[in-house]
Amino acid sequence: MRTYARGMATTGLRYSSTLLINRSYPQPTGKRLISSTPQSHIKEYFPPPDAPKIVKVTSAWHHPVYTEEEMRQVTVGHREAKNWSDWVALGSVRVLRWGMDLVTGYKHPAPGQEHIKKFQMTEKEWVRRFVFLESVAGVPGMVGGMLRHLRSLRRMKRDNGWIETLLEEAYNERMHLLTFLKVAEPGWFMRLMVLGAQGVFFNGFFLSYLVSPRTCHRFVGYLEEEAVLTYTRAIKDLESGRLPHWEKLEAPEIAIRYWKMPEGHRTMKDLLLYVRADEAKHREVNHTLGNLKQAVDVNPFAVEWKEPTKPHPSKGIKHLKTTGWEREDVV
Ligand SMILES: [Fe+2]
Ligand SMILES: [Fe+2]
Repeated sequence: MRTYARGMATTGLRYSSTLLINRSYPQPTGKRLISSTPQSHIKEYFPPPDAPKIVKVTSAWHHPVYTEEEMRQVTVGHREAKNWSDWVALGSVRVLRWGMDLVTGYKHPAPGQEHIKKFQMTEKEWVRRFVFLESVAGVPGMVGGMLRHLRSLRRMKRDNGWIETLLEEAYNERMHLLTFLKVAEPGWFMRLMVLGAQGVFFNGFFLSYLVSPRTCHRFVGYLEEEAVLTYTRAIKDLESGRLPHWEKLEAPEIAIRYWKMPEGHRTMKDLLLYVRADEAKHREVNHTLGNLKQAVDVNPFAVEWKEPTKPHPSKGIKHLKTTGWEREDVV
């Protein structure tokens, strides 16, 4: 099998064949088993830590368990822009989306045009889009969490539970990125694009969050609407047989552990369902945070409710709201 590393020069992405192999075959830790790349180039992209006394690295955040039924109920959706702040957020996402489509070579088809050749995406093109999308998506939660942390220190006031949810979102997005990097490794062109995008986006988002955090959460809400759309389309492509290499592909180990994927539900399609559900959760969280008074309201995703049996915002996706929770329902 000699599929590894083809097309890197033109796409900036190496499509890894590591995951196409039979997992029952013993694999040496930290090495790619099958590859046409010379041995000197073969190394695990981010191998487990080389520390014989340590079993594994643990995390403070444990991903909630999603059922397949819950994940199947996730739908594409849009919150109508209602004021100037919403329009600024929506306009910015549209500009960003245009840039991202350009960089990742994505053309979104109108309904009914999915079968036309120029709109069709290969596995490699999809994963390139995922990697770029996730490398950008991990920025806002960290910036928002950091600025709220600093504000709490500076003003000597409580944060009301926002910081943790925002940092957890950034962590979750980074796990998406690490997962997709197990499927394909970026080449120099892609890395350059990610570097440039991060430089611009981090600074832009940082300054914007200082000016209007509410607009920034709305912006992330709209960005996540696009993410749900992207993953929904990829799942549809996979289910309709347009991505044959992914049909039998198992999800990487890092993903199985992170999402606690049950036995028999560990394929690439399952993985995309999990990621899409996470994006839908971010969409809900950020649209909700965009509805709240930033300085005084409690984060409804980090509370215990007086009436736990009623539908409330939560960490899971059981009562997921596409357009977020309105302020009067949660405060
Ligand atoms: Fe993501
Ligand atoms: Fe997201």
